[in-house]
Amino acid sequence: MILRDVFAKTVADLKAHNIEGAERDARALLAHAIDLPADRLTMEGDKVLTKEDLWRVSESVSRRCQGEPVARIIGQRLFWGRYFTITPDVLDPRGDTESLIEQALHKPADMILDLGTGSGCIGLTLLCEWSKAQLVATDISPPALSVAQENAERLGVTSRVTFLHADWASHPDLHQYKGGFDLIVSNPPYIADHELATLERDVRAFDPLIALSPGQNALAAYEIIAAQAKDFLVPKGRLIVEIGHRLGDAVQNIFSSHGYDEISVLKDFEQNDRVVACHKPPS
Ligand SMILES: C[S@@+](CC[C@H](N)C(=O)[O-])C[C@H]1O[C@@H](n2cnc3c(N)ncnc32)[C@H](O)[C@@H]1O
Repeated sequence: MILRDVFAKTVADLKAHNIEGAERDARALLAHAIDLPADRLTMEGDKVLTKEDLWRVSESVSRRCQGEPVARIIGQRLFWGRYFTITPDVLDPRGDTESLIEQALHKPADMILDLGTGSGCIGLTLLCEWSKAQLVATDISPPALSVAQENAERLGVTSRVTFLHADWASHPDLHQYKGGFDLIVSNPPYIADHELATLERDVRAFDPLIALSPGQNALAAYEIIAAQAKDFLVPKGRLIVEIGHRLGDAVQNIFSSHGYDEISVLKDFEQNDRVVACHKPPS
């Protein structure tokens, strides 16, 4: 079977399963399955696919038809212009999180702490943008840290990162950095247990639970981060976190009760509250 016909059949299969953006997804899945850049598919329309090619296409199309996101099937996600490897152990980086990057980039930082790094998409992006910066990245999930390490290697920034297996900032190796970070970033889990059922299936079924929910209290991680982060910031150092779009006031109140300064709630590209930024409490 030639590529052009396989493409047409893939689009038809995806449409039959009510997949929105069937053409776009078909391109991504085929390009990955037959290891061809997506912008060469049309050019190579007469290419005859091997039995192995067809098997890989059929396997990935059937996963997509069952609702698995394309990024999960192809194992990578484009974030702030760079590809990040993802596995079932990490959150699939969201476009919304790019709003946090946008805020962070307003002021350069030399020392960055990323709490709950997952794939590493936040901390490693900042390292790539600031060629002299150093990063310490923590996560409670050892397999997530392995994925972040792999991404650091692919992006060529390993020599500037320290990964720590830690419960937020609780790690003995972090003591040496007290008062030393210009910037602390985090996108913590913020969906309470009882809200998980309301999530779309492609979130609930494919992102790891530990990346989504801190347990019964959606604000639990913010309470811990607010309590811990101030000791690690330089004077005037910044703390920037992603939030659920209904949590702006609540997170602002938490940071305010811990004495943080210049607290602002910022919107994402779709005009939802998405980021809270503030400065270390004045001494
Ligand atoms: C919402 S995901 C964010 C991942 C990544 N930073 C991103 O923005 O795509 C939250 C991350 O926090 C990690 N995490 C959850 N509880 C944690 C804890 N107690 N200490 C450190 N990391 C934690 C999860 O393993 C997950 O990688």
